[in-house]
Amino acid sequence: MATMLHIFPYLIIISLFLQCAGAQARLSAKLFEPSVLLSKSSTPSLVNVTLYEEALCPDCAEFITGPLTQMFQNGLSAITTLTIIPYGNAKLIGGSIRCQHGPDECTLDRIEACVIDFYPDTHSWFSFISCVEQQPAASRLELWPQCGVALGLDVIGIQNCADGEKGAELEARNRKLTESLDPPHRFVPWVTVDGAPLYEDLDSFFERICEAYKGTEKPETCARLDGAAGTYPSSRNLQLWGHVE
Ligand SMILES: *[C@@H]1O[C@H](CO)[C@@H](O)[C@H](O)[C@H]1NC(C)=O
Repeated sequence: MATMLHIFPYLIIISLFLQCAGAQARLSAKLFEPSVLLSKSSTPSLVNVTLYEEALCPDCAEFITGPLTQMFQNGLSAITTLTIIPYGNAKLIGGSIRCQHGPDECTLDRIEACVIDFYPDTHSWFSFISCVEQQPAASRLELWPQCGVALGLDVIGIQNCADGEKGAELEARNRKLTESLDPPHRFVPWVTVDGAPLYEDLDSFFERICEAYKGTEKPETCARLDGAAGTYPSSRNLQLWGHVE
């Protein structure tokens, strides 16, 4: 009996190790053989949600801190792949990029792009963008490092990225992605679900995700929505395309 008690903790440790080893193996399989796994389990594909935005636009901030943040609380993030393209209504004029709300917005767009690029885990980069967009527009450039520090991100690395070649590269890529939209965006926030724009109908955001998802087991939120009005306020002045200050 005494011996049994003595080895008991070791048994727990060994069984924990085996469980972890099992999880590790499953994770590697997921990383390296996605097609094999998909064909075996016929996992329904995730819904592509893409937001084209710019860092200082009030309606973008409202969408990010509202419906997009709620998506992570109501379970719909589990059936989506979220992409954010920070560029918005910026334009290439005479060889340089001009942002709708001035140079600070270009800097913040690059900062957001760098964080998305550095921290591919959706929760990591989205937490940062959500934190930045919660700040008053006039303080975002000053306060983003505090969001970065609070989330344990490499603030210096992000700043260097935004000021350097990498930031310019990401900005150019985001310009291409925005300019190749078909149909073209007319204002921001511009939201697409599986490539189809929502236009002004941002109220239908959650319903559109639920409709697009082909899995049989939809999140509970989808059943609860069922015709209910969305939570996004319908009276807004969307930032119109072409309005460059
Ligand atoms: C979602 O995006 C991925 C990656 O770009 C693409 O391969 C896939 O076809 C998209 N799915 C839909 C339904 O648009």
